[in-house]
Amino acid sequence: MLQTRNIMIAGNWKMNMDVHQASLLVHQLQQKAKKHQHVEMVLAPTFLALQPASLQIDRRRFRLASQDGYPKDSGAFTGEVSFAQLRGLVHYSIIGHSERRIYFNETEELIRDKVEAAFRNDIVPILCIGETKNERQQGETWQVLHSQLTTALSGLTNVQVEQIVVAYEPIWAISTFGGELAKPSDVAAVTAFIREQVKQLYGAKAAKTLRVLYGGSVDDQLIHGYLEIPGVDGALVGGASLSADKFAGMVEAAYRLQIDRRGN
Ligand code: PGA
Repeated sequence: MLQTRNIMIAGNWKMNMDVHQASLLVHQLQQKAKKHQHVEMVLAPTFLALQPASLQIDRRRFRLASQDGYPKDSGAFTGEVSFAQLRGLVHYSIIGHSERRIYFNETEELIRDKVEAAFRNDIVPILCIGETKNERQQGETWQVLHSQLTTALSGLTNVQVEQIVVAYEPIWAISTFGGELAKPSDVAAVTAFIREQVKQLYGAKAAKTLRVLYGGSVDDQLIHGYLEIPGVDGALVGGASLSADKFAGMVEAAYRLQIDRRGN
């Protein structure tokens, strides 16, 4: 099947690097990560580094994402940064990452509000969903994913769902929580499930257009095995995205796969 969705390689830098180190990494990435048609490179530094990075990056090659955002536009919410404040600065926002759900007790309703707030401010969410190891062992995977997905999307129009990016993060496959290798057949089953749910609720066009990333632990060696899974449109990468060489290697893997998929 010819696939025409662009592949996204998104680097989630998490709470790593100060602004100077972040600037150095941006510099290295601009030297090493080549621009390819149909491969989108997204960088998600900490809030602090977003503004300088926005001035430093070549916007024809890289897009910025925040790692979070607060759903109210402004007000007395000490320490938070709103999507309204991120408007114009970032193209995407990572929302509902498992570290936020687990360490900061983010609920499905809060995540739904964030998804809505991002769209309201012209920011496309990279919505993370995923089950814990325990939930998988208990046979609750489908129920958990269904609940996380449908709640997060419930305030959106069909057109918004067409644009959204969903990152499937089996929590047990993230380096923070164990970093086990997910089986490609499991990932394929989940991506098909996500599209089927979206199709039932938002129609065939949304199911075909939205992008689904793999968000378990990958690097430049492992990524190919996940990118070639039908229905996977890229990767949300943590640790390996802190190395310019590895990030560039992942982008090259995506490019080669794109060529195969498009048959040119
Ligand atoms: P990791 O993180 O690549 O360091 O495992 C993945 C993620 O949190 O999305």
